[in-house]
Amino acid sequence: MQTLSDPHRLHQLVNQWRLAGERVAFVPTMGNLHDGHIELVHQARARADRVVASIFVNPMQFGAGEDLDAYPRTLDADKTRLFDAGCDLLFTPEVSLLYPAGLGQQTYVEVPGLSDLHCGASRPGHFRGVTTIVCKLFNLVQPDIACFGQKDYQQLAVIRAMVRDLNMPVEVIGIPTVREADGLAMSSRNGYLTKSERSLAPELKRTLDITAQAIPELGLEQRAELEQQAEQRLADRGFEPDFFRICQAHTLAPAQPGDTELVILAAAQLGRARLIDNLQVDLPH
Ligand code: PAF
Repeated sequence: MQTLSDPHRLHQLVNQWRLAGERVAFVPTMGNLHDGHIELVHQARARADRVVASIFVNPMQFGAGEDLDAYPRTLDADKTRLFDAGCDLLFTPEVSLLYPAGLGQQTYVEVPGLSDLHCGASRPGHFRGVTTIVCKLFNLVQPDIACFGQKDYQQLAVIRAMVRDLNMPVEVIGIPTVREADGLAMSSRNGYLTKSERSLAPELKRTLDITAQAIPELGLEQRAELEQQAEQRLADRGFEPDFFRICQAHTLAPAQPGDTELVILAAAQLGRARLIDNLQVDLPH
């Protein structure tokens, strides 16, 4: 596995592969890799001749007072895991190379509407930062396909919308969430949890499961009550719920009676960790 930090050398190498007719898959990450990221690499490997991963803690997607400085950086361990998973090339650019004029002068890419809901409402500017960096990385790597985790359900929806709206020639593939044995979705931020918070954390997924089971029984007419009960259940267990919403799976708008493709989106603070998770629910037509 090669590691490059120079965008021009990255572009040249990937171009050689493309000219040789090879199919290129891309896995963008912010590092501190866990089994969820490695699953993205495996899925990319299965679909392409070459796999490129990036590790870049993107300052543009962090708000003031968020955990940019504290975000775990574990490059040596990450390199070993990527190599073992069959990654061909790791791109690790410096902030100054990707944002030479600083964040204030940076041209940005923004998906209207979707970026302002849910996590976007709680973290203003977050999705603008995500779409801007993903667009820049797509331009540098020019992959045929790119793999993203479904744990970040709204992020995946926003990236799909960007690719569609800007006619980017990239196939975006959503990969199912990888979970710990007790149900907790794998996340780099789980490392912030204390021992007692870690034992509470699976309650987020349990609350999603309980709500999913209740929807067919009570009907979407009871959506607001179900959301409220779920938030209360989380608060009773020591979480600070940010939101718990039953949504239409594609628009992420509040689900209405008659909708059949749903996603429940949840975000809650537990100690220092902001946990997010989701569950897709398909109702009979
Ligand atoms: O999901 C992430 O790790 C990041 O948001 C991404 C897609 C790598 C962009 O910085």
